[in-house]
Amino acid sequence: MNSAAPGAKPMAEVVVAPTPTPSPVPAPPSFANWTTYGGNSEETRFSPLTAINAQNAAGLGLAWSHEFDTARGMEATPLVQDGVLYTTTSWSKVYAFDATSGNVLWSYDPKVPGETGFKACCDVVNRGGVLFEGKFYFGTLDGRLIALDAKTGSPVWSTVTVDQSKPYTITGAPRIAKGRVLIGNGGGEYGVRGYISAYDANSGKLAWRFYTVPPAKGAPADGAASDAVIPKMQATWAGDYGKLGGGGPVWDTIVYDQEFNQVIFGVGNGTPWDRRTRSADKGDNLFLDSIVAVDADTGAYKWHYGGSPGEVWDFDQTQSVILSDLNIGGQNRKILMQAPKNGFFYVIDRANGRLISANNYATQTWTTGIDMATGRPNETPNARYAKGPFVSLPSGQGAHNWQPMAFSPQTGLAYIPAQEVPMLYKSDHPFIKRDGGWNLGIELGANTLPNKTAQLKAVRAMLKGHLAAWNPITQKEAWRVQYDGPWNGGVLATAGNLVFQGTSRGTVNAYTADKGQKLWSFDAEIGIMAPPVTYAVNGRQYVAVMAGYGGGYGIGAALADNAGPRPNGRLLVFALGGDAAYHVDHVAPAPAVVVKSTWSAKTLARGGHIYEETCSVCHGGTARSSGVVPDLRRDPLLASKAGWNQVVIGGALSDNGMVSFKKWLTPADAEAVRGYVAARARNLAVNGN
Ligand code: HEC
Repeated sequence: MNSAAPGAKPMAEVVVAPTPTPSPVPAPPSFANWTTYGGNSEETRFSPLTAINAQNAAGLGLAWSHEFDTARGMEATPLVQDGVLYTTTSWSKVYAFDATSGNVLWSYDPKVPGETGFKACCDVVNRGGVLFEGKFYFGTLDGRLIALDAKTGSPVWSTVTVDQSKPYTITGAPRIAKGRVLIGNGGGEYGVRGYISAYDANSGKLAWRFYTVPPAKGAPADGAASDAVIPKMQATWAGDYGKLGGGGPVWDTIVYDQEFNQVIFGVGNGTPWDRRTRSADKGDNLFLDSIVAVDADTGAYKWHYGGSPGEVWDFDQTQSVILSDLNIGGQNRKILMQAPKNGFFYVIDRANGRLISANNYATQTWTTGIDMATGRPNETPNARYAKGPFVSLPSGQGAHNWQPMAFSPQTGLAYIPAQEVPMLYKSDHPFIKRDGGWNLGIELGANTLPNKTAQLKAVRAMLKGHLAAWNPITQKEAWRVQYDGPWNGGVLATAGNLVFQGTSRGTVNAYTADKGQKLWSFDAEIGIMAPPVTYAVNGRQYVAVMAGYGGGYGIGAALADNAGPRPNGRLLVFALGGDAAYHVDHVAPAPAVVVKSTWSAKTLARGGHIYEETCSVCHGGTARSSGVVPDLRRDPLLASKAGWNQVVIGGALSDNGMVSFKKWLTPADAEAVRGYVAARARNLAVNGN
């Protein structure tokens, strides 16, 4: 087991006084833009700007901020072109600002139906758009791809990219390749068949599509670019694999690799997670958990690399793919690097997808390393939880999730927002398909947190996060900054020897890129997941980041017991000497609603099971909310059988993302859930958690 964390000793979060230096600060170019998700075609998230640098970063301050209309998670990468800043928020809304003053130039609401929120495994987030030839392109949660006039915000075209009767969602940012807009989709927890599509940027017409898993047994070919590899895919699947679509969503990373005229994308987990129910426990299940490269013109398959063959852990391989040239063993190699959920840092040859090197960048219990001859992980004996429950590190939350990593060609280091979130995997084979929720093939409720304060504290202490500076050539950690919790923000690296990262606790920090010394910190008072960007307008450099907690882990996991409702998300923009006023109103958590128990022990157990399998993904495991959606233990409706029923069965709040569960639950089920939540509320009143 690679149970010891690799590399250097953790570094405490201490502020190091900047060394004064007489060297003149170079003037930034009058305009420096950030027009695509990863900042440049290699998606390094490295900016050449140096006006803000390690010598003066301590002088950063807030230049302006903007409060949005939602407290749901913020994951977008803001884009900037010629003095205009574009960003997206939860519910797929778009805003354009004057990048220097923060004045709103226009906004666009695609009016995503509230009930779509139910199809989103991981909050109603949006990770941003792309600018190309005067248009701003973005995807919507309900599966549309929309082109807006970047000047006015008026729609130019809109196309539906998914079968909207199925649980597809779009949260990822589109990319541009060869005059086409590339977009994928999500839904791997519910039951979809993943694919990536290329649309003509001018007309919105479909150019090609590549499916990441084969069509269901006996179903015809798709007439898509992936048709040619259907036999290759099918040979790695078994049983009635098409029943739930198979999964394999392309929900995040897509990179256009100009040097090889190929589009490289990351493919997500299988549906259900457990291969026993997905594929008769056989096969690698191509192209789940793989990086796939296809021809940019035709979408034809070129190569793939799969890090977790035949996976059972939700090990999406969708995390940031960064392109680079590296000198490895005296040779210039055209490589990509990736640090996906499964805990390995991969360096892969872009010419053919071959693995050059790999090492674990985080603690792992599921493997003892990689067999370099085959490129396959050496799994530990019960990693597939076949002989009983297994605690895995990393888990489906990933040793690194969608929060983008950065790479500085100056330091030669990649900066990974890494974390340790263990999970207990317990198969619920034989598995019954559930239309009203997640289809994992494992018991989510097996991770129920203890009621006793001391035990709960011990479990929470296992949840960690850190910023890792990783050398892709030596495959070793150069330094790390340890945080006291997971789910921290994406990273920006700059030529000013700086890296910027926000934290789930709500700070925005600047560190030296070479050594990880903390130079500056701003308390935003709102958890941050999104990656900062930097740009220049009229000779002044700015750093911008979206603040707003939530997302897959954030929505369902309470980091503390005293969280009140989360405040609305913000856009924060910093500059040297910035001194804009900043204030966040915090609402204190309401007291527990204490209701006398009239439920039998059997009913409470049933209610607990339904709650943990169906409600916990949004309202929090063990009914402990993170504050992004209401804490049901503190909800006045808890005291009212009829009121509770009106929401849970009647759908009274469906416009706000709380659907009716009428199709899947009876009023008696809803009442049993109320009993369980009431018990949790009494525990809150007595034990404080
Ligand atoms: C996909 C996410 C999601 C799931 C799953 C979900 N909810 Fe909700 N729920 C929400 C959101 C969002 C709201 C807040 C709606 C609003 O702001 O009006 C909410 C609100 C509620 C409320 C009203 C709270 C208040 O403030 O008055 C109740 C009661 C509730 N949910 C119960 C449940 C139960 C019981 C389940 C499981 C059967 C469940 N929810 C599953 C997202 C979800």
